[in-house]
Amino acid sequence: MLTVALPKGRIAEDTLAIFETIFGDTFVFDDRKLILETADFKFLLVRNQDVATYVYHQAADIGVVGLDTIEEQGLDVIRLLDLQRGRCKVAIGMRKGEKLDLSKPEIKVATKMVNISKRYFAERAVAADIIKLYGSIELAPLVGLSDVIVDIVETGTTMRQNGLEVVEEIMESTTYLIANKNSFFEKKGEVLDIYEKINRVISAK
Ligand code: PRP
Repeated sequence: MLTVALPKGRIAEDTLAIFETIFGDTFVFDDRKLILETADFKFLLVRNQDVATYVYHQAADIGVVGLDTIEEQGLDVIRLLDLQRGRCKVAIGMRKGEKLDLSKPEIKVATKMVNISKRYFAERAVAADIIKLYGSIELAPLVGLSDVIVDIVETGTTMRQNGLEVVEEIMESTTYLIANKNSFFEKKGEVLDIYEKINRVISAK
């Protein structure tokens, strides 16, 4: 039995669809239920930011989560497989026409991704005042809360609609299959089996 942590929303649906393809069965959570048990799997429905936490503490053996979130949280989990879905970028955005000047004495950065931001500016020896927000990041430069934002860009629509543009890309992200380190050894056969089956489905597309 493998416990699988899935982030609520599209990624969970996509991943369950992959399992349905593999096993020719239906995998659907009952209304409001957070656990779905099948013969071989226990699926957990968690918040996106909590997937790696469940896996790191071995409350789940494996999980599915974006590379951006893995990098931001820095939890020690095994990155088993790039699922080549949910492609997006973590990027620096500014008001249209403005230029990123790394020689400024201090840059005010609004972001959900505090650690990725800190690392980026520290590596360039730039003093950054990092302001943690929980959403609607694009608003910050429009009202003078920050000079720049570090945020997820998928289609680019949110930035464009708010008069912002990408001035620098920090990283590319896709969804990954991750595993707990102990589970990987204790349940190696099961983990590698599902890894191979998922890999076959995503490679076939
Ligand atoms: C994410 C991100 C951007 C938007 C990017 O926000 O923070 O705001 O999606 O997507 P786009 O490039 O396709 O427009 P999310 O939907 O998670 O909302 P929140 O930031 O307000 O939590």
